[in-house]
Amino acid sequence: MRLSRRVSVAVVGLTALLAATACGDDGGGGTAVKNVEVFTWWADGGEKAGLDGLVGTFGTACPNFTFVNGAVAGGAGSNAKQVLASRLTQSDPPDTFQAHAGNELNDYISAGQIEDLSAKYTEWGLTNAFPAGLISNLTVDGKIYSVPANIHRANMLWGNKTVLASAGIAANATSLDAFFTDLDKLKAKGVTPLALGKDWTQLMLFESVLISNLGADKFIGLWNGSTPWDGADVTKSIADLQKLMTYTNKDRDTFDWTDAEKLIMEGKAGYQLMGDWEAADLDAKGFKDYSYTVFPGNTGVFQWLADSFVLPKGAKNAAGTECWLKTVGSAEGQKAFNTKKGSIPARTDAVAADYPAYQQTAIADWKSLKQVPSCAHGAGCSQGYMGALNSAMGKFSSDGNVSALQTALVAAAGQFAK
Ligand code: GAL
Repeated sequence: MRLSRRVSVAVVGLTALLAATACGDDGGGGTAVKNVEVFTWWADGGEKAGLDGLVGTFGTACPNFTFVNGAVAGGAGSNAKQVLASRLTQSDPPDTFQAHAGNELNDYISAGQIEDLSAKYTEWGLTNAFPAGLISNLTVDGKIYSVPANIHRANMLWGNKTVLASAGIAANATSLDAFFTDLDKLKAKGVTPLALGKDWTQLMLFESVLISNLGADKFIGLWNGSTPWDGADVTKSIADLQKLMTYTNKDRDTFDWTDAEKLIMEGKAGYQLMGDWEAADLDAKGFKDYSYTVFPGNTGVFQWLADSFVLPKGAKNAAGTECWLKTVGSAEGQKAFNTKKGSIPARTDAVAADYPAYQQTAIADWKSLKQVPSCAHGAGCSQGYMGALNSAMGKFSSDGNVSALQTALVAAAGQFAK
């Protein structure tokens, strides 16, 4: 094909423009894609503080790009994940999004929605930066698909120190039986003994109870299909959950985790089971009078989850996303993010002394305790499995039917456990 000179100049110009756009180098002409839309559910409090820290590092490390906040509020991504799913279906992905390491990430990989980042790991020197176990949770068929930002611990119990002291609770309970005794003391004081929120927060509480009753190894087996859900130890766990529910706020099904946390801050509740983003959130909100301990009966077990970021297929600004991902994996980025987020760095070279007191204990615990995955936060189970359990929890919260819940759990595992 012969092109006229004018047409060929135009084509060259367009090619140059597309190349500049693809590599994100605007060459001073202002034509490149600058915006990097980062999709998370970190919209407020300690979560936003963590994100802001990362954005600060990104601004320094990636001056050619502009962070665009695509956050959709709602704990554990309860709203964000629906918005994301519909955008992915419509081939309108954000430039990067937050995904949990483990089975949740595998869903995006098997749907062909995210890119292989193996070559970037080599280029950015990340291959040995993270623990081998975590890397295997980000890898499918030898390819690695995301960059982890942190490690969170799920099975933590937060308390209002003044409220606990006024109820005569001097030491943290280490068994479920002792915990029920303490909850009775709080009840007698006229406060809500255990603040609770909706479905996914109830699933977290239930997972902690399961760890107490089954122990770490059998708990892990619930997610890979080797532990049956119809056993007597699961029945006991449901009965324990039912009893725990009697100590919680009645409006739990309308509460996000931050609403339950507010009861702790206002001195209206004694305890709340929640992941350690609560440490950062309480700090961000200026509430200092809090205690923390592992959930009773979970001693020696670190229930983990990890946030990671991906490069979606069809992202408008792949070069900008790569700069974001490189920042997420860097020592500076991990420090700026995790010191404010309540989590610990995924990188193994972090300096514990740089972190607040709570995270210093978590850094030590992560190395020494038995690790089990969280289902409510995607490490242990797929999004389908998680969704089935969340709706079973919501149903149980209103009908309290032990055998109906166990039947629903068995059915969910039959469909999703692997
Ligand atoms: C988790 C997420 C945490 C925290 C939490 C509460 O799923 O991994 O980083 O944001 O939800 O929203």
